Amino acid sequence: MQLTFEGHACFSIQAGNVNILIDPFISGNPHCNKLLTDFTPDIILVTHGHNDHLGDALPLAKRLNIPLVAQFDLLQSLDTPGLDVIGMNTGGRITVKGLEIIMTAAVHGNSLCTEHGCLPAGTAAGFVIKSPAGNVYHAGDTALFGDMATVIARYNIHVALLPIGDLYTMGPKDAVMAAHWLKADYVVPMHYSTFPAIQQDAHNFAAMLESRTACKCIVLAPGQSWTYISPQPEHKPDITPAEGDDR
Ligand code: NI
Ligand code: MN
Repeated sequence: MQLTFEGHACFSIQAGNVNILIDPFISGNPHCNKLLTDFTPDIILVTHGHNDHLGDALPLAKRLNIPLVAQFDLLQSLDTPGLDVIGMNTGGRITVKGLEIIMTAAVHGNSLCTEHGCLPAGTAAGFVIKSPAGNVYHAGDTALFGDMATVIARYNIHVALLPIGDLYTMGPKDAVMAAHWLKADYVVPMHYSTFPAIQQDAHNFAAMLESRTACKCIVLAPGQSWTYISPQPEHKPDITPAEGDDR
């Protein structure tokens, strides 16, 4: 499974032969030098309606005629006629193109702002993507919250994409706790240093993470890719209480 950090909270994930694009903030992203036409995903996931996450999702989904997965209430406020939208809500699980996609909670606001003002847009979300190549958790914009340890860790997270920018989301210390609670094998920090208000040193975060937890940190420069190789290629099931969590 190959992950490419496109800057901010945007990731391209190649899982098997499916190319997933999450939070496609391309236009106006100071850390993304690619053109919108450089992206040819098979599916787009959007965690919430803020501009730095919804980004170019609508025009891209329309041009490529691909599914757009987002929270149901957000989709009601968007102009989506003719688009292949999949509205879901927290705790829901769908199977698309051989991937299992679970919408998780995120502790954050959600609104949809245009030149005409801001509309409420339901709740913010995160996603767990389960594929035979590995299980990835994109936390979206969120505070640290206890259900990471209980609900989300059950999905057997190999790679956690966690915000560390502080101010609008959790900062580095809470992200270390999140990683520990999630029992993630790898953490990729995101949502930092895009703007002066969320400036962070990702290498300091990496040192803190690796000294305090069993997680490995992968710091990716915008545009950089990293390949996760699952130690067990077969699909790992969710951890249930009966099976324990001692993987
Ligand atoms: Ni946000
Ligand atoms: Mn954000």
